[in-house]
Amino acid sequence: MKIAIINGPNLNLLGQREPGIYGSQGFDSFLEILKTRFPNIILEYFQSNVEGELVNALQQFGNEADGIILNPAAYTHTSVAIGDCIAAIKAPVVEVHISNVHAREEFRKLSHVSAKAAGTICGLGLDGYRLAIEYFINKEVDR
Ligand code: DQA
Repeated sequence: MKIAIINGPNLNLLGQREPGIYGSQGFDSFLEILKTRFPNIILEYFQSNVEGELVNALQQFGNEADGIILNPAAYTHTSVAIGDCIAAIKAPVVEVHISNVHAREEFRKLSHVSAKAAGTICGLGLDGYRLAIEYFINKEVDR
């Protein structure tokens, strides 16, 4: 089973960026933990600070992966293009946010992604990515 994790802008700075909100772990070391925990899953990872590159990655993995875990970061709240892309691709998408976007500024309550995603996990820290993988595994078992 192949799952792609796609992270949007500034998530390359995890570990240094606002640790009170996003924690002190960088994503690279967290990804290694996920790979160890799920040895039978092919985990692909892509991060970009550029909206169009995220759309390109979604289109590419949308044909290749069994599921996509997407944290669009700030583009969640602004990108019609990413929302449209999720509606267009084959692979189901789980939207993940590390922080609880509903407990923060008003503008973070709007998501162009949620309505097109299979579901959303937010506010559970990096553990949200693990939970999304579990969702795809359980879904596969149920098939
Ligand atoms: C985020 C929440 C967004 O509002 C913010 O712009 C991010 C990260 C999260 O994971 O909590 O960059 O998606």
